[in-house]
Amino acid sequence: MKILAINASYRGDQGYTRFLVDKLLAGAGAAGAECEVVTLAHKKINRCLACDKCQQSGKNYLICVQRDKDDVQDIFRKMASSDLIIFGTPVYVVGISVLLKMLLDRQYGTADCGKLIISKSGLIFHESDRKISGKPIVALICCDNIEDETPRSLIQYFKDYAKFLDVPLAGVLVRNAGRAAGHGKDKMREQFFPKLAQVYKAFEQAGRELATQGYISKATQRKANQEIVPMKNFKRLKKTMPYKEQILQHARTQMILAEASSAPDKT
Ligand SMILES: Cc1cc2nc3c(=O)[nH]c(=O)nc-3n(C[C@H](O)[C@H](O)[C@H](O)COP(=O)(O)O)c2cc1C
Repeated sequence: MKILAINASYRGDQGYTRFLVDKLLAGAGAAGAECEVVTLAHKKINRCLACDKCQQSGKNYLICVQRDKDDVQDIFRKMASSDLIIFGTPVYVVGISVLLKMLLDRQYGTADCGKLIISKSGLIFHESDRKISGKPIVALICCDNIEDETPRSLIQYFKDYAKFLDVPLAGVLVRNAGRAAGHGKDKMREQFFPKLAQVYKAFEQAGRELATQGYISKATQRKANQEIVPMKNFKRLKKTMPYKEQILQHARTQMILAEASSAPDKT
């Protein structure tokens, strides 16, 4: 099993997305998968110009005008030689990372968009290059906000992507409260958010499952995606207006304590 993780964080290898990708791949690697990470922030990705030259018969047919000007061809080659692709993206203003979007838009130039088909889920679409876009995918989404609405459009995006591209969605991992979690770097955070340890173990378990069975079980997804705010019934309470103020107060206190504990000692 060859797993390619595409990290679309603007923070590159310094961000929470990479931290979570590494947890996932630690589990997958230990279970025998061959793993690779592509960090889009370190790559040159030109945008699709919608010039449609790739769609015209002749010498440019299915050849993007950007092909030799950036790193996309190389990334597509890595996608083609993988069995499963993890798309790791932070929530950026309620959407996926533009780095990932620019990469996915370039798939347009790899297939004849005039050749219509009906996908297994009954959607009318066009052909795609199965070598590049036909692999099972995992969505790994992280954000700072705690509302269910924050990652909702991204979850839907990957569900729809999988339906149109006719690929299994092998798992959806959503990690909220990233800032509270200290972007994973600060060990002390586990003191204030004890569930973080369980969450990160679940990420490793998710990786093992990907390597051994090709998908992440619902139970592991639930553990990885659980709320980390140490408040009883938090998932229910956070939807309830009278509790929002209480939750904010609680979150502020936790964050202040966490900041204080990680501040350099000035004595
Ligand atoms: C431009 C930008 C927009 C963001 N928009 C949101 C947002 O809409 N909702 C949210 O919860 N977090 C938002 N965030 C926070 C990131 O999603 C969050 O910090 C994430 O963990 C970053 O991952 P990274 O460390 O891998 O970059 C935004 C961050 C940036 C830089």
